This record gives sequence, C-alpha cells and structure tokens, in this order.
Amino acid sequence: MASREQFSSRLGFVMAAAGSAVGLGNIWGFPTQTASNGGAAFVLVYFIMAFCLAYPALMAELIIGRHARANIVTALRGIAPNKPLRLAGTAVGLYGTLVASLILSFYGIVAGWMLAYLLESITAMFGWTGFSEWLLSFGLTRNLLFMGLFMLLTMGIIASGIAAGIERWSTRLMPLLLVIMVSLIVYVMTQKGALEGLKVYLLPDLEQIHPQLILDAMGQAFFSLSLGVGTMLVYGSYLSNEASLPRLGAAVTLVDAGIAFIAGLLIIPAIYVAKEHGANIFDASGELIAGPDLIFQVLPALFDSMGQVGLLVAFAFFTLMSIAALTSSISMLEVPVALATEETPASRRQATLVIGGLVFACSSLILLNFDTLFGFIITLTTVYSQPLLGLMLCVFAGWVWHRNSLLQAIQAGHPNIENTLFWKIWPHYVKYLCPVLILTTLVRSLTS
Ligand code: TRP
Repeated sequence: MASREQFSSRLGFVMAAAGSAVGLGNIWGFPTQTASNGGAAFVLVYFIMAFCLAYPALMAELIIGRHARANIVTALRGIAPNKPLRLAGTAVGLYGTLVASLILSFYGIVAGWMLAYLLESITAMFGWTGFSEWLLSFGLTRNLLFMGLFMLLTMGIIASGIAAGIERWSTRLMPLLLVIMVSLIVYVMTQKGALEGLKVYLLPDLEQIHPQLILDAMGQAFFSLSLGVGTMLVYGSYLSNEASLPRLGAAVTLVDAGIAFIAGLLIIPAIYVAKEHGANIFDASGELIAGPDLIFQVLPALFDSMGQVGLLVAFAFFTLMSIAALTSSISMLEVPVALATEETPASRRQATLVIGGLVFACSSLILLNFDTLFGFIITLTTVYSQPLLGLMLCVFAGWVWHRNSLLQAIQAGHPNIENTLFWKIWPHYVKYLCPVLILTTLVRSLTS
C-alpha cells in the first residue's frame, strides 16, 4: 500500500477539524436557532449537548479513524470481530458516506448564494446595477452557476490532498475568518439597537426549555461538530500517533462552540440594528425571522441602509460566510473521496472529479425541484440521519470494538490514559449513556 498522507502538525489538524466544524452551522444556524428558541436558554442547552454528547461522539470518530487509518467504511469493517458485524460496519459506513454527500449537495447550494452575494457587494461598489440585480435574484441560472463555482473551489482543494490542500487552506482561512468576525462585531456593537439584541441573546427564558428545544440543540451540536458521517473519522485517520486525541478533540469542541457563541454576538445584535434602521425583523406569527430571509433580506437591507460603509460591511460579511462554508465543504467531500481512493484504483484527482460531478448533479436536481427537495433533504440528513449515525458510531466504539484494542488506540499519543478521568468515564459514556440519550431524544421527536 502506498504510504498514507498525514497532517503535517497538530495545529494543522486542529485548524482543519475546526475549519470543518466551524461553518454556516455556527454563523447562521446557531444564532438563529438561539433567537427563535428563547435566547440564552438555547445557548445553555446547546453547550451541555456539545460537551456531554457531541464531544464523546467526536472522540469515538477520532479514535476509530486514527486507529484504522482509513475511510469510514474500511474503518468500521476493520474493527468488527466477525462477518455479520463486518457487514453491518460496511452498511453503516456507506450510509454515512451517502449522508455526507447529500449534506454537501444542499450545503453547496447555500454556499453558492453566499458567493453570489459576495460578488454583488463588489458589483454594487462599481455601480453595475443590472448585474447586481441579477446576482440578488433567485434564478435557476444564478443558483446553478454559483453552486457549480463553489463545488469547483471545493474540488480544487480536495484534489490537492491533505497537507497541500485541506491543511494549507484551513490554516490560511481560519485566522482570517476570526479577524473578519471580530471586526464585524466591534462595528455592529457601535450601532444603535445592538444592546437590545445582546439582551435577547444573553438573557435566558428558562420556560422555553421543552423537548423540541432539546432535540434542536442536539441536532445543532451534531451538525456543528460535523458528526456521524465520517468527516471527523477521516480527519482523525490523517493524525500522527504522537497526538493525544482527547486533548485535540477537546480543542476542536471548544473552538467550535466558542465561535458559535461569538457568532451570536454578531448576528443577533445585527438583527436588532436592522430593526432600528426600519427593517421588519419579525414574521407574520411574531417570531424572529431566522431562515434564509434573515441572511438574504434582513441583513442586506441593513447593509444598504448604511450607505458606503455598508458595501464594505457586506463584503466582509459574505467573505466570512464563504470562508466558513469552504473549510466545511472540503471536509464533506473528503469522506467519499477517501473511500474511493482507498477502495478503488482511482487516483485522488479522478475520484474528486467523478464524485464532485455526482454531487453537482445531485445539487442541480435539488435546485430543479427546490420546493420539494431542499427542505426534505436537510431534515432527512441533519435532523434524523446524523444523530442516528452518531448513535451507531458510539455502538461500534463501545460495543463492537474490543475494549483492549480501543485502549491501545487511545494510548498512542497519551500513554498514561488508563489513569485519567477520560478513560474512567468515556468508555462507559459511549457505551451506555450516549446511545440512550440520542435514542430517547430521537424517539421523543418522532412521537411528539
Ligand atoms: N459543521 C459544519 C457547519 O457547522 C458543517 C459540516 C461540515 C458538516 N462537515 C459536516 C455537517 C459533516 C454534517 C456532517 O456548518
């Protein structure tokens, strides 16, 4: 077997994994879910979910991935002790790979909109009104074109491999993302109305904690940490044996939750600044507008009302969104590409081209049947499949995999792990608590 590529450093891995985790889910999903779910009450439940449920599941993926040094299918098959379980491993792995590709196919559409709005902030600076209007109109051609452009960017990075593609671009883009975000927050905070938004964001309304909120928080935590579909598993498979997985996993979880929290400091106050500028921020039922209209109507209206500065702010904001989307989309595409390069004779370039083409076709299909397919695919993949797959991965780590080899796998890079709190708690956690919690939440949502 040809030697397998690796991340060149631990920092490189953290940047890549955090790049995967930090995406539209953090900057858009988290703040808006918070706004429509009782403010800080959601933040609270979300943090509990992220550290108590998503972090252990993330660890399961990282440990399996680094031990197997393979894609999700080969890895799950590899840790199974007998034939029926090997079959089950293959099935779960394929399901995960399919879900990763489907997530990419709707994510690429949304990311394409971000690119279109980014370009519009430039055409508006030049006063090209006709072009700008086209970029902002929800047309099939525009949607196809920018989704395709975004897919090409994603494919370009993935075709370059781990260190020269994923790691290099994540390490460049993540610091930039943070700088843009902090600058935007500083600017928004100086505007009238920001404080009102800050209150909505940070004062909990504990009466709002109900089963649906808990399910939403769990789904958000799984989506935000890119769990269940083998993304983190395959990133883990490119980690050296010297790295301590529990520490790196904790770092990634912290960065992800931290950036989601910081994004809330930007988006929610910005919504209330928009209100101050005369924008309508509530929908017909009195709820805060949270869906696409928030990003593509409310905030652009705000930027417009700011005059010349607004163009710059819009440019910064949509750059931020595009970067966040790109470092995430590459991690989704890596899942099927790793499978194809490891299980077929295809080279990385060939696999990227073929799979990228298939995902493009799938996205096009969604765009052609937007009203029926878009929401459906999102719910199917993120609300149901991801927690379900997370559950299965916990079962594989906790029940299927032999405990001794599991211990050996974490001992690499963390020799005294047996004496740590992590080893005392985590194995039982993924074995019993995580599956039960995930299952309960899922069943409740299906029956409520
Ligand atoms: N976590 C990213 C976000 O918050 C999205 C993402 C990347 C993802 N890879 C994933 C989601 C795999 C689910 C599965 O936007």
